[in-house]
Amino acid sequence: MRLDKYLCDMGAGTHSQVKQKIRKGLITVEGETVLRPEYQVEPEQKVCVEGEPFTYTEMEYYMLNKPAGCVSARTDEHCRTVLELLPKKKRKDLFPVGRLDKDTEGLLLITNDGKLAHLLLSPKRHVDKTYEARIQGQVTREHVKAFQEGLDIGEERLTLSAVLEILNSGEISQVRVTIQEGKFHQIKRMFQAVGCEVLYLKRLSMGSLTLDESLKPGEYRFLTEAELAKLKLEVGVEG
Ligand code: URA
Repeated sequence: MRLDKYLCDMGAGTHSQVKQKIRKGLITVEGETVLRPEYQVEPEQKVCVEGEPFTYTEMEYYMLNKPAGCVSARTDEHCRTVLELLPKKKRKDLFPVGRLDKDTEGLLLITNDGKLAHLLLSPKRHVDKTYEARIQGQVTREHVKAFQEGLDIGEERLTLSAVLEILNSGEISQVRVTIQEGKFHQIKRMFQAVGCEVLYLKRLSMGSLTLDESLKPGEYRFLTEAELAKLKLEVGVEG
């Protein structure tokens, strides 16, 4: 890969900033100063930027505890995006895997691995997503049955069977819901279909990936190798 592209992808700066750094002699490859932006560099070579070693990673995987008030998009004209919560110096090809509503909190995977994202989101794969929710109104066993049987939320078909667990039922109820799909506003529309309103929603897991509860809203960390291996195995990605 060209040295300028390599440095840009890894978040060393804009294309023109990176070119300038190269031309100023601030970049070394295997200890030798390289002055040509088109220089071909291999991922395993040791690159230093201003004397600091720079590691190339082909793929990156962040677990974010999404806070309410930001949007799950790469860019937005009006609102803070989930990518703005990650460090300033980050690679440029990251994106959130699927969408959580602006007011939804919880687990969001952010990566540049398009293949894994595609498989996790594929409607054919029925990857379970579990949410915790606070509901206005009493949630009953009838609701549990209705969620299990499938609900009409205005789509062509009923929703796939979902598991609704009542943690607490009262004027305001506390529940856990597991769905196999990811339709727009799905949980909110499912509760609407049974005459209830979602007051608070937080995603706890997506497939085998579970939110690290030590992450406060807005905090993130890299996925561990074990988490990543399990997730890949689950959707059938090699390696
Ligand atoms: N269902 C919703 O209604 N909102 C979300 O953010 C996720 C699932």
